[in-house]
Amino acid sequence: MKGADILLGLQWGDEGKGKIVDVLTRDYDVVARFQGGPNAGHTLEFEGIKHVLHTIPSGIFHAKAINIVGNGVVIDPVIFMREIDKLAPLGVDCAKSLRISRKAHLILPTHRLLDAASEAAKGKNKIGSTLKGIGPTYMDKTGRNGLRIGDVELPDFEERYEALKAKHLQMLDGAEPAFDLAAAESEWKSAMDRMLQLPLADTDVLIQEAYRAGKRILAEGAQGTMLDVDFGTYPFVTSSTTTAAGACTGLGLAPNRIGEVIGIFKAYCTRVGSGPFPTELDNDLGEAIRQKGHEFGSTTGRPRRTGWLDLVALKYAVEVNGVTQLMMMKADVLSGLEHLEVCTAYRYRGAEISHLPYRLDASLLEPVYQTLAGWREDLTAVRDPKDLPATLESYVRFIEAFTGVPVVLVSVGPDREQTLWRR
Ligand code: IMP
Repeated sequence: MKGADILLGLQWGDEGKGKIVDVLTRDYDVVARFQGGPNAGHTLEFEGIKHVLHTIPSGIFHAKAINIVGNGVVIDPVIFMREIDKLAPLGVDCAKSLRISRKAHLILPTHRLLDAASEAAKGKNKIGSTLKGIGPTYMDKTGRNGLRIGDVELPDFEERYEALKAKHLQMLDGAEPAFDLAAAESEWKSAMDRMLQLPLADTDVLIQEAYRAGKRILAEGAQGTMLDVDFGTYPFVTSSTTTAAGACTGLGLAPNRIGEVIGIFKAYCTRVGSGPFPTELDNDLGEAIRQKGHEFGSTTGRPRRTGWLDLVALKYAVEVNGVTQLMMMKADVLSGLEHLEVCTAYRYRGAEISHLPYRLDASLLEPVYQTLAGWREDLTAVRDPKDLPATLESYVRFIEAFTGVPVVLVSVGPDREQTLWRR
């Protein structure tokens, strides 16, 4: 058993990572977010209350764990402090259990203006960004113009801020701003002042010390593999490395220190925003799944597109990440369907292929389905995997055989209690 495990999404995000991190945290000493930012919405539910986290790791509700916001994350202080303010009345002491990397980059109000302008300029080709300023912030990071949280401790921070803002305004070239910039800046600066009361740290060093001290570390991914900037459905992707490699660069965690790679997927597929989605159900059944699965974005409220399970994409995600354990979420949502389709190949430019091609556009590619038996039973009250319907067990075994990886957990509802361990 190695000290650090990674947990990440294998589809287009919203797989249910937050719930699983929360369930697993009792086994870990450190929970660390390694990429993304407030575009994420990790939902946790326990004792009848729903909590949505955007930037803060999902281990925050367990007093024992140290929660790290790693260098690969981008932070909007306004959204961050709103999260902190919601946690305080629940007795969560963030000063004690949270550490923020000095190397994490800051999302400025003008990054959000640039995000909005970029999407508007793309017209019908827009990505469907969450408009949280994620793309422009990562562009400034790799362009070596970004501001890091640690910079706030420098005497010339104000000057650096003004210089970056001036650059952004020049790029906007007089375009009508999407919101009142002066008001947003004043809110941002007061949130920043409050955020500095929280512990900043050299979290890469913290992680390495924790590893050497034999502590158990869980790296928590955001979004999903199909939104990865390299391996996802480019350009309809996010701007960070959502795959296992991102845990190394986003935390300072060496690859040879990683043990298990836990891949989370839903029993079907969803996607929010634009871009290819081969198994999409743009029909009444898709709508029924959306309603039953409450498939509406936890960050933006947008309806999620829904579709059948795409095993070609899932297997690709298993390979890219080196997944060692699979966890299947939302099995309860498919109850009542007599038959289920699963995509086992693509027909691409006339030939049948079983890998993910360079482009997934509907004009080039058609899914090939295999039909499996569904299950009628309501699963939400099942607490023992032996009580799962035989057809669900066959569905799971089919997935295991296709991907070559065991499905260790099946989730049958949002609550911590609705979690069934198969192994
Ligand atoms: P951005 O990351 O806000 O720039 O958005 C880029 C694409 O990723 C859009 O299609 C978003 O809908 C999608 N996206 C970003 N974050 C998430 C997430 O946490 N869950 C699901 N989709 C996301």
